[in-house]
Amino acid sequence: MRGYLGKTMKAVAVLALTTGVARAEGSVEVLHWWTSGGEAAALNVLKQDLQKEGISWKDMPVAGGGGEQAMTVLRARVTAGDPPTAVQMLGYDILDWAKQGVLANLDAVAKKDNWDAVVPDAIKKFSKYDGHWIAVPVDVHSTNWVWANKHVLDSLGIAQPKTWDDFIAAMQKVKDAGKIALAMGGQPWQEATMFDGVVLSVGGPEFYKKAFIDLDPAALGGPQMVEAFKRMGQLRSFVDPNFSGRDWNLASAMVIKGDAAFQMMGDWAKGEFLRANQKPGVDFECFRTPGTEGDVTFNSDQFVMFKVGKAQQPAQDAMAEAVMSPAFQSSFNVVKGSVPARTDVPDTAFDACGKMAMAQLKAADKNGTLLGSMAHGHANPAAVKNAIYDVVTANFNGQYSAEQAAKELVKAVALAQ
Ligand code: GAL
Repeated sequence: MRGYLGKTMKAVAVLALTTGVARAEGSVEVLHWWTSGGEAAALNVLKQDLQKEGISWKDMPVAGGGGEQAMTVLRARVTAGDPPTAVQMLGYDILDWAKQGVLANLDAVAKKDNWDAVVPDAIKKFSKYDGHWIAVPVDVHSTNWVWANKHVLDSLGIAQPKTWDDFIAAMQKVKDAGKIALAMGGQPWQEATMFDGVVLSVGGPEFYKKAFIDLDPAALGGPQMVEAFKRMGQLRSFVDPNFSGRDWNLASAMVIKGDAAFQMMGDWAKGEFLRANQKPGVDFECFRTPGTEGDVTFNSDQFVMFKVGKAQQPAQDAMAEAVMSPAFQSSFNVVKGSVPARTDVPDTAFDACGKMAMAQLKAADKNGTLLGSMAHGHANPAAVKNAIYDVVTANFNGQYSAEQAAKELVKAVALAQ
């Protein structure tokens, strides 16, 4: 990896003027976890845009949805004095690195392109530290979604479920017909992703906020949390026996192929459906976790630039500028399944699910029901997030009853703070 950086450092970034357009030459080494088909296709949009600017891309992919493994690799790189130029990062992790003083200041580009006016406050909370821009938001995802195979639902006469009970009845019908009702990957972050939507479905935004954002012990250990764990138990009864350890995109593939009816997953799953040439409303359906209509548990992928020396800065700035361009925010998010991180991008290029997501994000932001995803690091710092993961996973795998899990959650969160 040292040789890698050596080469990067040698590829000195210079600014040149070609046909009146500023071109930054150089290279960026980008650490990310976008390794599934849909994710890689979206990342390609960025690679190509940068190539047009004369910036070459050194790929540093670290597989693993949710980014836990990527963050482990990042820590090792930084400890070795060898940080990558740019890193995909989420929520509180960004603020944690900013606190260490190792992130580059992006104020100059931000000011030039007036990011302050177009990035919503809920996102800015993680893009700025101490009043300075230290991250570039590339997308806004949300976790309280269900993805369904429309052909399977139609063949079984199942209408889109509106309530939790409808949803359970629909899954029972699928199971009775001998198909897998819920495609699921048994990895802690995937279970936690489902839990975002489940907690919201039980107690709405107020309860979600009390439990996951305020970390109120009464909410974490109370009857609504017990109910949330009971719902996780219901969901557990609809997954197939081989769910353990399965990657999220393989679970999406089960729905795409019609082996399974539903997947509860963030809207990066849509990237997989699109990649398989499936059309919303024709081949698949997207809808909010039943009982959470109008609420949005969001996570925004951002790129942070590490301080890797002055020579690299023009390439870093050019990457930041490219990511924030309205045209890129549209073309990237159309492929990724997410929505733009700036408010002035039209929804014209987006499909029905994307248009719906954009309208819902806007409304939720206005109504105060736009909530940071616990599962994807937008509710708490990593220590608390991981403590919640542990309890959710132990419950899902039958180690704790719903009542025990709620009690353990209070203890685990208290210890992690
Ligand atoms: C999330 C990330 C998404 C998506 C997903 C699965 O944490 O925000 O962009 O890629 O992981 O890898």
